[in-house]
Amino acid sequence: MMLKDKNIALYVTGGIAIYKVVDFMRTLIKKGAKVRVAMTKSATEFVTPLTFQILSQHEVHLDTFSEKDPEHVAHVDLADWTDIAVVAPATANTIAKMAAGFADNFVTSSLLATKQPLFIVPAMNTDMFNHEATQENIQTLKKRGAYVVEPDTGFLAEGYEGKGRYPENERIVEELEQFIISSTADLPLKGYKILVSAGGTKERIDPVRYITNDSSGKTGHAIAEAAYQKGAEVTLVTASELKAPQAIQTVRVDSAKEMYEAIDERFAETNILIMSAAVSDYGVAHTATSKMKKERDSETVSIELAENPDILKTMGQKKEQQFLVGFAAETDELEKYAQKKLQEKHLDMIVANEVGRADRGFNVDDNQVIIFTSDHDKIEIPKTSKKNIAHILIDKIVQELEIEE
Ligand code: PMT
Repeated sequence: MMLKDKNIALYVTGGIAIYKVVDFMRTLIKKGAKVRVAMTKSATEFVTPLTFQILSQHEVHLDTFSEKDPEHVAHVDLADWTDIAVVAPATANTIAKMAAGFADNFVTSSLLATKQPLFIVPAMNTDMFNHEATQENIQTLKKRGAYVVEPDTGFLAEGYEGKGRYPENERIVEELEQFIISSTADLPLKGYKILVSAGGTKERIDPVRYITNDSSGKTGHAIAEAAYQKGAEVTLVTASELKAPQAIQTVRVDSAKEMYEAIDERFAETNILIMSAAVSDYGVAHTATSKMKKERDSETVSIELAENPDILKTMGQKKEQQFLVGFAAETDELEKYAQKKLQEKHLDMIVANEVGRADRGFNVDDNQVIIFTSDHDKIEIPKTSKKNIAHILIDKIVQELEIEE
């Protein structure tokens, strides 16, 4: 989402990690970015420009003096077109030239003409990376506002371990998305603190058994990401094992009581609370400290349950300026029960979803929901991905809070 329609100038310099950059570029394109490539001469020794040309579906810039269009200066044109400039892999040589302000080839000339944010992925021999000159050059670029990805430590092309390895593309893309968010000043949720709950809580019976439900956490994690992409400072309280981007503060919990504590602790400083978690209404009254033994002479066994705190209802009672969003998982009379929860829990918005169908709701990628607001708005969202629903929900919250986009 963050990369969609972004103009990315990809500057490729001469290092063995180039083959990984081909895949990196494909990921950017798959995520909706428009990519134009420029290469240094030494980069072309590793991979031919044709590879990048075919995949980006555009001419690759190589030479400052091969001006094909008399009305345009290509390296300045590329700089002007750019939303974000990425140098990957960035060699010690190109980093030094950038720090010193050189413009001796297409890549360095275009970079010198670029006013937009700069994202650099160094990859080189460990001694070259650790050299004072390279470290000072990196500091110079950072001081000017560039983002420099930390190389990995691991097995280098030279056949030994060291720092300087080109990192996994997944990490680079994640850091690039974070960098775009932090360098975009006008995101609507900048300055907002959002607390999102996700997943199905686990109520321990004994050290090896628990009671839980089918919630995967997909909904809550998608909401946290959508809020983060709109500039919010997001805390995700999750009972799910799913991963979350580094920039989202993630608090892992198991039981409803732990979830309650994690939310209660942060509620006073929260602007928006979104409770998408499937919280167990009841917990085990007396959790056994050792594994329960099979009862030999009894066909049934009873476990006493005790009511858990209703997190959302309690926050509804405590609420001051906070905007509260609840979910309602219902098998019948969706609207009636959702409206009831909206009022009883003092919510500003509720997302109602029908559960009990295999193709939506719990533990699948899609859902179909209706959003009700306390001012009687009703938005029906036909079956779509939970990611899409998360973005629609966050946009609706922005609209309800009358934040200018
Ligand atoms: O995680 P997924 O696999 O993506 O599935 C998503 C989902 C189906 C879990 C999600 O869309 C959903 O419906 N979440 C709420 C499930 C639920 O517990 O609904 P409820 O109607 O029982 O509760 C109403 C609201 O009160 C919810 O916001 C719930 O988080 C909150 N609650 C409930 C009980 C409790 N003790 N404390 C609470 O805060």
